[in-house]
Formats: sequence, structure tokens, C-alpha cells
Amino acid sequence: MAKVMPQTCYLVLLVLLVGKSVYGADQEIGTYELKRGDFSVRITNFGATVLSVILPDKNGKLDDVVLGFETLDEYKNDSTYFGALVGRVANRIGEAHFSLDGVQYNLSANDHGNTLHGGAKGFSDVIWTVQSHKPDSHLTLTYNSYDGEQGFPGNLSVMVTYLLIGTNKLALKMEAKPLNKATPVNLASHTYWNLGGQNSGSIMSHTIQLLASKITPVNDQLIPTGQIVPVQGTPYDFLQPREIGSEINQLPGGYDINYVLDNTGSAHLKKAAVVKDGKSGRKMELWTNKPGLQFYTSNMLHNVKGKGGFIYKEHAAIALETQGFPDSVNHPNFPSQIVNPGETYEHVMVYRFTAN
Ligand SMILES: *[C@@H]1O[C@H](CO)[C@@H](O)[C@H](O)[C@H]1NC(C)=O
Ligand SMILES: *[C@@H]1O[C@H](CO)[C@@H](O)[C@H](O)[C@H]1NC(C)=O
Ligand SMILES: *[C@@H]1O[C@H](CO)[C@@H](O)[C@H](O)[C@H]1NC(C)=O
Repeated sequence: MAKVMPQTCYLVLLVLLVGKSVYGADQEIGTYELKRGDFSVRITNFGATVLSVILPDKNGKLDDVVLGFETLDEYKNDSTYFGALVGRVANRIGEAHFSLDGVQYNLSANDHGNTLHGGAKGFSDVIWTVQSHKPDSHLTLTYNSYDGEQGFPGNLSVMVTYLLIGTNKLALKMEAKPLNKATPVNLASHTYWNLGGQNSGSIMSHTIQLLASKITPVNDQLIPTGQIVPVQGTPYDFLQPREIGSEINQLPGGYDINYVLDNTGSAHLKKAAVVKDGKSGRKMELWTNKPGLQFYTSNMLHNVKGKGGFIYKEHAAIALETQGFPDSVNHPNFPSQIVNPGETYEHVMVYRFTAN
């Protein structure tokens, strides 16, 4: 031990010195842990991605409840968006273009002629700068998006903070400031949750409550039609807690739809979803200040090799992506996502975990 110490100190010092001088240029890809008691979260600055969330079940047994890969390299060639922070505009933009102030902006078309999650190289595929890391409290990452990146207008300064609060609570604070042009901004966290553990198989028997009375229906390319319709009397109605699998067979593939959250317009965070896994006793509540939530049951996950070599199949997890409505830039009746220079985009998510 004594022999290793000086070398370790030297290395740490070197990393600190070198790390500082390359900020903004060749930022290293690393992993950063946040930990309080037996609740811990690991994040990488590649894509500001959540790598793991470990928490106890009702008997105190620890499990990792988010899907992901074994190595960081696998995140670089990933089409699942496991744990990623997606932007500049999350979700789909129809035909990969939109108009703003009389200019048509042509975007990276990476999904059947449409734009998905900010284009072929969105915020989930770039290296973020580590601004601040305190292992028992928070990690703050920033990214400077340039004018024309993936086709979007103007420079955009983006900041994301992962923050531990109290016991077993994780908050995500996303901020973005346009520097010189108005631009749409819609950031989302694309974490895949399985409260039974990432290697437990299916979420069909989890119960979910979604505090949303309406959805925005989509066409066969998953682009919103522009309608906003009630969920009442349809398999989309999760106003009362119900098993995810109970009516999933009535839908092609499963759930992949934007819910219009109730109680929008309030200045405070509102409860958006409650998920429970009866077997482990784990429960997750999600609160947000955003008007929409994309509920996705991993319909497109086909035999992806994940952590520990476990093979993830359809419905191995759920994603609960709070955000604005998809394709808002092309639907004037949806809440606007345009942010002007001088304004700040702010998106907060709070996860509260319990087990009993
Ligand atoms: C990247 O992923 C694609 C499928 O998504 C696969 O065909 C390709 O071989 C992968 N490339 C590398 C270098 O792993
Ligand atoms: C986008 O494409 C249209 C038509 O192809 C073109 O008129 C327009 O100038 C392009 N927009 C930008 C910002 O380059
Ligand atoms: C926008 O970004 C470019 C390159 O990233 C930089 O040269 C330019 O000064 C920036 N402009 C503003 C107004 O921040």
C-alpha cells in the first residue's frame, strides 16, 4: 500500500493538471459517482449518460435498476440511447425541418427522413465538460452547442446537474441559454428503468400511474398528427395505477407515446408518474415542471447485450422522458419550445425511490 501511494498521488495530480488545461478541447471521457448511504448513481460525461442507479429493495438487497452496457465504448455506437441526455431537441421532428422567423432549418435526418433525438450526432453523442463533482452531492456537466450543429440555429450553452437530495432522491436540472439566435430546445433524459433490476427481464408486471388525461397521437412514423385526445376508455389510460402489461397487447409493439401531463401551468413541480414493482417492493415517483412525458416500453429493444452479458429484449424496461411535446416546432397548437437569446430553458426532474 505504502509503495503505491506516492505514485497514486502523482497520478491524481497529473490528471488534475492535464484535466484543467484541456477543458473544452479534448475533454477526457470518465465516470463519476454520486453516493449517499446505499443509494448510488454513476454517470459518464459521454452524452451526460446515466450508467447505473443502485438502490435497495424491500429486504435491503441492492440492485442496479437501469439498463446499460458493460463498457463505455459500447455507448459510442449505441442506437438505444441507454441513460442518455438527448437534445438539442429530443423526440421526433417530422421531415427533419422546421421554420422559424421566415428561415427553414434543415436538420440531420436520422430516422426514416425525420429527426430523432437531435440528429445523428446529438447531445447524447458528444463529450460534456465536467464543471463540478462532489461525490456526496452533485455532478454538473456543460456543453457548448454551436450554430448549425445538426442543423439547429445559433450557439446554445447547455448545463445539466445530477443532484442527490435527502434520502434516495435524485434530481436532474437541465438548463440551456441561446447566445445569438432563437432556437427550439427540448432536453430529455432517456434512462431505461426496471425496478426489479436491470437483469430481471420484463416490466410487464410493474404497475404504473401516469397523471395525464390526454395523449398526442402519432402516425405510422411516430410523428404527432397534431391532435390531443383523451385517454379515457383506451389502453393508454393509466390515471389509476394498473399493470403495464394489462392491455399492452391491444397496441402494436407497446407504448411509445407522449402524455399530456395534468396540472401543467403551475409554477411548482408536479407529480407525473408513479411506478411500482411488487416483487422487489421498489417504487419510483417522478416529478417535473415540463408539460409532456414520453412513455416507452422498450418496444424496439431486440436482443441487445447489456451489463454482465445479460440480453435485453422487448419490454425489458420503461423510459419516462419528461419533456415538451414531440414535433412541437411543426405544431403551433403544442406548447412552444422556442427559446430566445436572453431567456433560459429550464427542465427539472425529481425521482423519489422507496421500497417496502
Ligand atoms: C455499430 O452498431 C451497428 C448496429 O447498430 C453494428 O452493425 C456495427 O457493427 C457496430 N459497429 C461497431 C464498431 O461496433
Ligand atoms: C433548407 O433547405 C431549403 C430548401 O431545400 C433552402 O431553401 C433553405 O435555404 C435551407 N435552409 C438553410 C438554413 O440552409
Ligand atoms: C458561437 O460559436 C462559435 C464557434 O463555436 C464562436 O466562434 C462564436 O464566437 C460564438 N458566438 C457567440 C455569439 O457566442
